[in-house]
Amino acid sequence: MCKLLRLLVLIVLIIAPTVAYADSTGSTRVADAKQHACTGGGGYPYREKAEYVLKELDLKPGDVVVDIGAGDGWWSERMAPLVGDKGAIHASEVDQKKVDKMKEQYAKVPQIKPYLCPTDGTGLPDDSCDLAFISKAYHHLPKEGHVDYMRHLHKVIKPTGRVCVIEKYAGLATGRSKEHAWAPGKLAQQAEEAGWIQVRCELITGTYHFIAIFVQKDLFPPEPQRKKKPAAKP
Ligand SMILES: C[S@@+](CC[C@H](N)C(=O)[O-])C[C@H]1O[C@@H](n2cnc3c(N)ncnc32)[C@H](O)[C@@H]1O
Repeated sequence: MCKLLRLLVLIVLIIAPTVAYADSTGSTRVADAKQHACTGGGGYPYREKAEYVLKELDLKPGDVVVDIGAGDGWWSERMAPLVGDKGAIHASEVDQKKVDKMKEQYAKVPQIKPYLCPTDGTGLPDDSCDLAFISKAYHHLPKEGHVDYMRHLHKVIKPTGRVCVIEKYAGLATGRSKEHAWAPGKLAQQAEEAGWIQVRCELITGTYHFIAIFVQKDLFPPEPQRKKKPAAKP
């Protein structure tokens, strides 16, 4: 039994470093020509990488999150234990049926707070959230309204808070999925126009989706200027 356990540990140790996450600490070297191929089926392959996504979010007990376009509450459910009973997950939805379903499903998880939101904002007060989590919903925001939405989030998110967007990488989308994708460059540009700076953007390996994280531009004071050399005396 003990031998078997040791063998298992050894196998895990050998396999673990070869798991190809393109995260901030892992190498981007292409070790295997197939490592970037999409491995997940269905519309939500990125859900299979939840552990990686949640690690990126680094939520703490007491954090307040707005899960914009929460859908069936799949992400809210996973974030809830991380923020604990002192925190909150405002699960925002424009679809009343989805709100009702989440209310029923999460009746015993008080920190999950499903609610009907307007299409052009969260309806939450200024400085009320630590994180806006927008998974596969950014492309659903009102057409031509993305910069305004990000400006709204600039108010709702606390000064040290973040915005996290997960979307299908537009350049990798094919067929009908093109309508449900976004270009990371376009997102970064729109966010910057609204007062956000992108601090991370990574492909979620094996999913054709990317995760981008933004912080408030106000956190960046002007860079130090090089002191002018005093003019040489004649
Ligand atoms: C593809 S689902 C994503 C569900 C979930 N966030 C996930 O990643 O698994 C997109 C959801 O966004 C919602 N939605 C669409 N427009 C929205 C808006 N303006 N504000 C909030 N939610 C919106 C839809 O009703 C839908 O449930």
